[in-house]
Amino acid sequence: MEDDLNIRQARRSDLREVYLIEVNSFPYPYPIEVFLTFLILFPQYFLVAECSNSVVGYIMGSVDSDGSGHIISLAVRPSYRGRGIGKRLLLALEEIMKENGIHRVKLEVSVNNRAALALYKSLGYRIVGLERNYYPDGSDAYVMTKELSN
Ligand SMILES: CC(C)(COP(=O)(O)OP(=O)(O)OC[C@H]1O[C@@H](n2cnc3c(N)ncnc32)[C@H](O)[C@@H]1OP(=O)(O)O)[C@@H](O)C(=O)NCCC(=O)NCCS
Repeated sequence: MEDDLNIRQARRSDLREVYLIEVNSFPYPYPIEVFLTFLILFPQYFLVAECSNSVVGYIMGSVDSDGSGHIISLAVRPSYRGRGIGKRLLLALEEIMKENGIHRVKLEVSVNNRAALALYKSLGYRIVGLERNYYPDGSDAYVMTKELSN
């Protein structure tokens, strides 16, 4: 656990650092415009983890038309992984969603992403479906959900 870690709402000035983490984390990164769009539409569900004044992780969420929370993206800077930052970001976002009356969260995760699957399972997410051909290389994603209880 990082002592010097602060989790706060993202700002426009964070987006360059967020995007750098994104391109270092995913084979098919979202374009930077996607981050700006989510920041405008769902600012309360876009969080960053800050350590010594630099962004070391982020989580970006939204709300679906059925009222469920949706985790759009989560990543931690490679050199900061394995220190509990991803877990803290996810728990912080769940807490904010709960405060806003959201009872259920959904996400998609690559069937090959062992670290993320372990993280989600450890926090109570369950696999509820499979999206075939979800990624540009034709690989599949699990759909996972979690009920948020008080
Ligand atoms: C997935 C990711 C966000 C996890 O962030 P992190 O800060 O390294 O994770 P944490 O240190 O909070 O780990 C929390 C739990 O996740 C699991 N976990 C994390 N990394 C793991 C790994 N490499 N192997 C197995 N389990 C892992 C463990 O259960 C861990 O709990 P423990 O440390 O008590 O065993 C990070 O690996 C990452 O940025 N990956 C690239 C982007 C990505 O795949 N994002 C998810 C897209 S759906």
